Formats: sequence, C-alpha cells, structure tokens
Amino acid sequence: MSDPLIVVTRKWPEPVEAELQARYRSARLNADDVPLGHDRLRRALETADVVLPTVSDRLPADLFTGPLRTRFLGNFGVGYNHIDIDAAARAGIVVTNTPGVLTDTTADTAMTLLLMIARRAGEGERELRAGRWTGWRPTHMMGAEVTGKTLGVLGMGRIGAAVARRASLGFGMPVVFYDPADQIPDHGVRGASRLDTIEQVLAASDFVSLHMPGGGDNYHLIGAPRLACMKPTAFLVNSARGDIIDQQALIAALRVGTIAGAALDVYEDEPEVPAELRELDNVVLLPHLGSATLETRTAMGMLVLENLRAFIAGEDPPCRVA
Ligand code: DGY
Repeated sequence: MSDPLIVVTRKWPEPVEAELQARYRSARLNADDVPLGHDRLRRALETADVVLPTVSDRLPADLFTGPLRTRFLGNFGVGYNHIDIDAAARAGIVVTNTPGVLTDTTADTAMTLLLMIARRAGEGERELRAGRWTGWRPTHMMGAEVTGKTLGVLGMGRIGAAVARRASLGFGMPVVFYDPADQIPDHGVRGASRLDTIEQVLAASDFVSLHMPGGGDNYHLIGAPRLACMKPTAFLVNSARGDIIDQQALIAALRVGTIAGAALDVYEDEPEVPAELRELDNVVLLPHLGSATLETRTAMGMLVLENLRAFIAGEDPPCRVA
C-alpha cells in the first residue's frame, strides 16, 4: 500500500490533518465536518483502503457485509462500542483505538462534572445569566460538600484510577470501587477499597463515577433497581458512555428524588438529549467534552497516525482491538 486511499470521517485538529496529508497524498479530509451517515460510510468502506472514523460514526454489522476495499479502521477515540468489531474482523479489517493519551483530560472532565453538580454551578450560572440573581444571602443555592465524601468508582481502569487519584489526593475523598476484572493495574490510591458488587459501591457512595466501556454487558447497567441502591443524597457522574445508564430510569429517579442529582457528558442517542432531562435543574449536561483539549485531541490524532503507520509497514499496530 504505497499511496493508500484514506477517508477521514470528521474534521481533525489542524496539526494532525497537516501531518496526515504530509505522509499520504491520497488522504481525503472532511473539511465541512458533516457526519457521513450510513450510506456514505458504506461507500467509504467499499472504495477506500483506510477509513478513520470516530465516536460520532455508527458502524454496525450490516456495514461490513459484501465486498469491501477497506483493510484498516483507525478509530479516533478510545471507546469503540460504535463499531461492530467482530463484524469488522470477519470482513478482514484491522481496527485500532487511542487509549492512554486522553486519560488525564477525561478524568478532569469527570471531576468538573462532579464539582459542578455538587456546587450547583450550572444552576447558578443559569440564574445569573437570566438576570435572576438578587445578591448574596446565607441560604442562597447551597450545594453539597465534596471534601471528605465517599467516591464510588465503577470501572477502575486508566480513567477510573485517574479520577480516584484526583478525588483522594485533591479532595480527601475515601474511594470504594468495583471492577469486574480479576486483575487490575496498580491504581495508586492509598486505602481504596475494592467491593464485591456494584450494589455495594452504589450504597456506600456520595458520588458515583462511571468508567466502564459502553455496549455489550454494560448496556443499561445502571437502571431503576441499581439507582434505588444509591443514597437519596448521592450524585451520579457519567463521562464514559451514555448507554451504561437507562436514561428514562434516570429521569424518573431524578424527578422523584431517588438520587440527588446527575452530571452527564454522554447520552444514549447522541446528540439527542431528551427534553425531560434538559428541563431538570438537578442535572449538569455537557456535550461529550471528555477529551476535548487541543493537546489531547492532537495526541489522539497522532496515535491514529502511528497505528496507521504500523499497519502499512506490516507491523502489529500498538492499539489494535480487532
Ligand atoms: C473516546 O475517546 O472514546 C471519548 O469518548 C472521546 O472523548
């Protein structure tokens, strides 16, 4: 593959696009940044050697049937539940992702969400911008203390551990966690307690932060029965994937006060966010900003390019998932 035909599905940070074009003459960028949609993605798989998609693309099994030219799918992002990787593998396509480079940035976003919901930051800003703020008073918009409260982490991988370190070292929060893996890497949080079940973590925590992959067994992992395990004063934070939470069950729980609030960066059917959620004051809603810094998005793009370089050189790409 001396001059592969490459399709990039969304606009990338400028330094990464420049590097891609310097290396490969036949790279097609998406300057308008309009999502390709099902039919154009299918055409890309039929006509290009390499497709470089991202989290906003949907690549279900039916896209991988019939004759395809694509041999490499280099996902821009760590999560890949938007790609049916088994179907891609059956079609002889190598799939890669971008772990590691977005850990700290995404952990920062989780902490931003946690602090915003605890201290009612979104609510306060809405009040001020609407001209409804009448001045300081002892009982105005009192939030929940963060320091010393218990953080529950579901999924103690790279990002979960980075959130736990921030919470423990920065805010003196005791950490409890659940992870389904037998062995987990050293998380570096002194005194963190591993609990046997998700329910135990939910019951013990003042803040619960989700750090599991989406899809598969984790689909609707947090539904009505598990929300009912949480304290009525507790907050749920999700910077992982929207479908881990049953969104309708969450809306019901927020309405009746099963839990105190939720702070979300991800949604079941992005970019759709149900009006019932947008109308609630006890939620913080961000538009999937988890890894959105110039430095991190550039590093993610450069890692896509490294995976691609390795694939073209006949090496095993460093971040191969299928
Ligand atoms: C990812 O990499 O999967 C993130 O969701 C993008 O921020």
